[in-house]
Amino acid sequence: MSQRFFEGTEHATLYARSRPNAPSQLADKIVTFLKEKYQGELELCLDVGCGNGQCSGLFSTSFRKVLATDISPSQIEVAKTLNYPTNVDFQVSPAEISPAENESAQVVVACVAAHWFDLPAFLKEADRVLCQNGVVALASYFLPIAVHPTKSDQLNDAIRHFYFESLGPYWGSGVRHLENEYGNFTIPYAETVRDEVWTDDEPYTLAKVAADLESWSGFQNLCRDKGEAAGREVLQEFISKCLKSLGTTDEPDRVEFKLKRKYFLLMGRKA
Ligand SMILES: C[S@@+](CC[C@H](N)C(=O)[O-])C[C@H]1O[C@@H](n2cnc3c(N)ncnc32)[C@H](O)[C@@H]1O
Repeated sequence: MSQRFFEGTEHATLYARSRPNAPSQLADKIVTFLKEKYQGELELCLDVGCGNGQCSGLFSTSFRKVLATDISPSQIEVAKTLNYPTNVDFQVSPAEISPAENESAQVVVACVAAHWFDLPAFLKEADRVLCQNGVVALASYFLPIAVHPTKSDQLNDAIRHFYFESLGPYWGSGVRHLENEYGNFTIPYAETVRDEVWTDDEPYTLAKVAADLESWSGFQNLCRDKGEAAGREVLQEFISKCLKSLGTTDEPDRVEFKLKRKYFLLMGRKA
């Protein structure tokens, strides 16, 4: 059964403002794997659970068309206001029923999304849509990793505390698949491969890190169940922990450290 979060307009806008775009090396790995056995034109990439297009744009240079779909009308509405290349077509659609034609796509990708889908139904639909030797790719990261010359451990403890303790009861069960890096996911093709891509260390302010955390579905669920004030409280607790670790009382938008992410990737090739 799929799990539906990320639905409200405010959440979609926050998502667009604060969530990272996937790294281009992720698309490169997927296209390289595809080209090992597929020599035809790259006509269509289907990006499923596309959000506001955090990974859709990456495929627009290699493919004639990217069809980016999401079950949330708000996510698609916001995506359409962003300046994506004209060959990226955003449509509202569930992962389990795609508007794409039979055997029309060379790649079906789901980035930071497959753990919310009805996976068997989605993989069956991906199989319908993929051409021979086409590739289905499931990618995600788990927690962002703080990088600081001396305080990385304390900052990462604050991120883990926020995820496991503050938001612990508010996560949908899909996140268990993130925690084990899709280790229990299998793609029913003879040829599958696991890989990973690390992002560069990216400069962030503490305010921007907090905005990213606010966009997590667990945080949105907490606010829905316990109210906005309860959300503000756990977010402020996170900010205070980070400020204390860094030994500063500066405003969060003046406090800087870096984040990196590990994208794990599971790919399967249709025979
Ligand atoms: C965490 S966001 C990921 C967005 C983007 N792909 C990224 O890389 O950041 C997960 C997205 O999956 C969508 N989603 C969840 N369940 C879905 C389903 N069954 N079918 C299609 N989209 C779904 C949500 O609406 C949300 O936009």
